[in-house]
Amino acid sequence: MVNTIKQICCIGAGYVGGPTMSVIALKCPHLKVTVVDINKERIEAWNSDCLPIYEPGLDEIVKKVRNKNLFFSTDIDSAIYNSEVIFISVNTPTKTEGIGAGMAADLKYVELCARTIASVSKTNKIVVEKSTLPVKTAQTLKNIFDNNSLKGISFEVISNPEFLAEGTAVEDLLNSDRVLIGGEETESGNKAIQTVASIYRNWIPEERIVTTNLWSAELSKLVANAFLAQRISSINSISSLCEVTGANINEVANTIGMDNRIGNKFLKSSVGFGGSCFQKDIFNLVYICNHYNLKEVAEYWLQVIKINDYQKNRFAENIIKSLYNTVSGKKISFFGWAFKKDTNDSRETAAIYVCDKLLKDGAEINIYEPKIKKDQIHNDLTFLWNLRGEKSNKIKSWLKNVVIHDNCYSSVVNSHAVAVLTDWDEFLDYDWNKIYNSMQKPSFVFDGRNFLNKKELNKIGFKLYSIGSLKTF
Ligand code: NAD
Ligand code: UGA
Repeated sequence: MVNTIKQICCIGAGYVGGPTMSVIALKCPHLKVTVVDINKERIEAWNSDCLPIYEPGLDEIVKKVRNKNLFFSTDIDSAIYNSEVIFISVNTPTKTEGIGAGMAADLKYVELCARTIASVSKTNKIVVEKSTLPVKTAQTLKNIFDNNSLKGISFEVISNPEFLAEGTAVEDLLNSDRVLIGGEETESGNKAIQTVASIYRNWIPEERIVTTNLWSAELSKLVANAFLAQRISSINSISSLCEVTGANINEVANTIGMDNRIGNKFLKSSVGFGGSCFQKDIFNLVYICNHYNLKEVAEYWLQVIKINDYQKNRFAENIIKSLYNTVSGKKISFFGWAFKKDTNDSRETAAIYVCDKLLKDGAEINIYEPKIKKDQIHNDLTFLWNLRGEKSNKIKSWLKNVVIHDNCYSSVVNSHAVAVLTDWDEFLDYDWNKIYNSMQKPSFVFDGRNFLNKKELNKIGFKLYSIGSLKTF
């Protein structure tokens, strides 16, 4: 039932393609694994000592297998031509223009991959959707293959969505809760499912390999992300109720999480979820529901995003209100920019939106972030402003008020407030007395991750706001 395979490739050397293929190469020494990308700099970085993405444990794995059975290359055609199984792991962002702008997934990169695969292939291929895609995308891929390939060559499309989270990608891949493989309910479809499963069987226990039909696999990925994001929005919505009643969100989350039926994961209230996927995947789900005229269902899921926007906005407004209704000319220090700890990814990080709001109220933002460079921070803000059609002279003047530091202590000199945007562990170990002494008085701390030591900060003299508890001022 299983095709014996020797070579696989992955199109897209990003946060998913890179780590996923590194772990496959590590666990399947009998396979030659090639990761290809159109982005030359990214491939060069994968082949260097400074990998393009930061993930704990990844450097060690790449060092072990690179140029043995793991290769990074820009030669996309050769990789496709030589591989029996081709993973597509390219980006699928929200469309920014045209039909469905702001909602639908932009599938142009996926379609391009399919057309390249169709034109280059001279032998049968299994094409695996690793990117997160709208349900029914496999049908589009099949149409492209059917209409563009050499006669007599067959293409099986498999959906094998990825569930890793950034910051824990290596652990998630080595010890996955489940591997989902969806395919057509035909003999050849089943054989393709088993062939893909045979890769994972090298380290994933059989009971964790779930096989389904194509549409269930595609949809399950969107739904998994929607459910996770929904939990965060649920707890965040309650955090605002805690702040006006004196209930404490950590105590509430802990209590409800002890119920086995609810569980304790993904109940950490925060300044709002970020990352490249939750928002985009929910928008995608909402768009699909509207497409099928399921208005109430669409509206239900849209609320998850609305609460997230509310949470980001309310955090920024709270800073402005607390600093006597204006931050004009005031210095605010940001600890962290990444959308969560242990990653150098800042796509859709809440920090962008908080920063935007404070800059527009006239603040000077001083940022210390352990893993993200100045250019990326500027690009994140500029991308948002361009999307909103802001004028270039405005953009220039706002960017002048964004100052990047290489350590936290220089970022707080004469600062009116510290805002914690990312849950980096190192923030817990800082000398908060030293920070207090170099700041303006009163010195405010806005803990957007609700994780600093409240007692210690209050004792030092900070005026502390922590999401989901009463302010100490
Ligand atoms: P990414 O932007 O980091 O990487 C995508 C890569 O694809 C880029 O390097 C880009 O240059 C390359 N690419 C685009 N078009 C190409 C083409 N035609 N040929 C060759 N290369 C091409 O994106 P990512 O974060 O790795 O996400 C990829 C997909 O996986 C998305 O659909 C995402 O929703 C999904 N996903 C992401 C995560 C995550 O944690 N980032 C987790 C699970 C699933
Ligand atoms: C998420 C999912 O967890 C993965 O399973 C999925 O594969 C991935 O999206 C994807 O499809 O891209 P990721 O976005 O990397 O992974 O990271 P998460 O740990 O889910 O965190 C997302 C955001 O929610 C972060 O900003 C994080 O700080 C925030 N968060 C998370 C909270 O505010 N509270 C929580 O309790 C958990």
